[in-house]
Amino acid sequence: MPAPTLPPAPTPATTSSALATAQAQLASAIEILGYDAGMHAVLATPRREMNVAIPLRRDDGSIQVLSGYRVQHNISRGPGKGGLRYSAGVDLDEVRALAMWMTWKCAIVDVPYGGAKGGVTIDPRTYSAAELERVTRRYTSEIMPMIGPERDIMAPDIGTDERVMAWVMDTYSVNIGYTIPAVTTGKPLAVGGSLGRATATSRGVVHTAAAALADAGTSLAEVTAAVQGFGKVGSHAVRFLAEAGARVVAVSDEHGGVHAPDGLDVAALQRHVQEQGTVAGFPGGEPIDNAGLLALDVDVLIPAAVEGVLDAEAAGRVKARWVVEGANGPTTPEGDRVLAERGVVVVPDILANAGGVVVSYFEWVQANQAYWWTAREIEERLEQRMTTAYGEVAALARAESVSLRDAALVIGVRRVAEAHLIRGLYP
Ligand SMILES: NC(=O)c1ccc[n+]([C@@H]2O[C@H](COP(=O)([O-])OP(=O)(O)OC[C@H]3O[C@@H](n4cnc5c(N)ncnc54)[C@H](O)[C@@H]3O)[C@@H](O)[C@H]2O)c1
Repeated sequence: MPAPTLPPAPTPATTSSALATAQAQLASAIEILGYDAGMHAVLATPRREMNVAIPLRRDDGSIQVLSGYRVQHNISRGPGKGGLRYSAGVDLDEVRALAMWMTWKCAIVDVPYGGAKGGVTIDPRTYSAAELERVTRRYTSEIMPMIGPERDIMAPDIGTDERVMAWVMDTYSVNIGYTIPAVTTGKPLAVGGSLGRATATSRGVVHTAAAALADAGTSLAEVTAAVQGFGKVGSHAVRFLAEAGARVVAVSDEHGGVHAPDGLDVAALQRHVQEQGTVAGFPGGEPIDNAGLLALDVDVLIPAAVEGVLDAEAAGRVKARWVVEGANGPTTPEGDRVLAERGVVVVPDILANAGGVVVSYFEWVQANQAYWWTAREIEERLEQRMTTAYGEVAALARAESVSLRDAALVIGVRRVAEAHLIRGLYP
C-alpha cells in the first residue's frame, strides 16, 4: 500500500496556557483546603527541571539542535512518573503543567509515585525512524542523571510510542551496564511491557464515564458519544464505548473528523485509519471539523487530543451533558466555569485518564519482580482502582458540593501535602 497523503495538519495550538490552567486549578484546591502560602509555594514549584540541547545528525548529513526537557514536579510520594511528549509545540511551561497534573493523578489513584513529564520540541511526523531513534537516545543520555526505576520512570505520550520507550530503556540499560526494564513503562511486551498497557488509559476513560453515568441513573448502552483525537487514547476509547453499547456518532483528529448520526461503524473506521492515517475522509459519515464535533448534540463528549480545546467560547457551545477528559488539560478554567454554569458534568483528566498510569504502575511492579500477570488480573485490578478512585472523588464532590475536578484536586493535593508534612522539611 503506498503511503497515504494526509491533508495538511494545523500549526499546533500554543500551549503556554496549560501552566496557567494547572496553577489556577491548584490555587482553587489550596483555597478549599485552607493551606497557607508556604504550602502553596511548595506544591506549585517543580522540584527539579532539566533543559537539554539535543544535537541531531539528520539523514542528509546536516546538523540540527533540538530542545528537550524533563521536569519532576513533586517526588514526596515516590519516584517521578510521567510521559515523554514529542511535539512541535512543546515548551518548558507545558512540561511543567503536565508534570504537575501527573503528581495529583498518581495521588488520586494512590500509586506510589510523584509527578514528572518530559518533552522534545520536534514534529515527529517530519523525521525518519532512524532520526527519531537518534533523538531519543541522545535525549535519554542527556537526562540520565534524573531518570531510573527509583528516580523517574517514563511512558509514552503525544508523538511517542512503545518503540520510543524501548529505545529509552535500551539507552539507559547500556549506559548502566545491564538490562533495567523498569526505567520506562508502555514498552513492547518483548522487553518487559505489560499486557493491557496500550489500552489502559482508554479503558480507564470508559470506566469513569460509566461510573459518572451510573450516578445519574443511566449507562453507556443508553447514550451517544463523540470523541476528539484518534491516537493512543481516543482510538481505543471509541472501541470500548462501542463495545459497551454506546452510539459513537463522531470522531476527529488533527486532519478533520467524521459524523454519522446513526453511529459510526467502528471496525470499518479503524481499517480506514490504518490505511489512510487519519479519520478524515472516512466514507461512513459526513465530514465535520473539530469545532463542530465539540458542539455536537451528544450525551458524552470525550476530548482525547490536546490541551485548551474547551475554552469559554467552545464550552459555551457544548451540548453534551458529560465531558470526560481523556486528554490532559483540555478545559481551561474559564471553560470549566462555563460548563459548570450550564450543568455539564466534567470528569476531570487527573481522574478520567489515570488508567494509563495505573497499568504503568503494574508494569513497573511486574518488571521489578520479573513476574508477569495475566491480562485478566490487569484488567480487573485496573477497573477496581478506577472505580474506587471515581467513588472517592464523587463522594467528596457530593459531601462538599464541589465539582468533580475540585474534589479530585483536593484528594490529590491533600495526599501529596500529607506526605510532605509527614516527611518534614529538610534541613
Ligand atoms: N497515551 C497515554 O497513555 C495517555 C495517558 C494519559 C493522558 N494522555 C493524554 O491524552 C492525550 C492524547 O494522547 P495520545 O497518547 O492519544 O496521543 P497520540 O499522539 O497517540 O494521539 C493524539 C491524537 O490527537 C490528534 N490531534 C492532535 N492535535 C489535534 C488538534 N489540534 N485537534 C484535534 N485533534 C488533534 C492527533 O491527530 C491524534 O489523533 C494527550 O493530552 C495526552 O497527554 C495520554
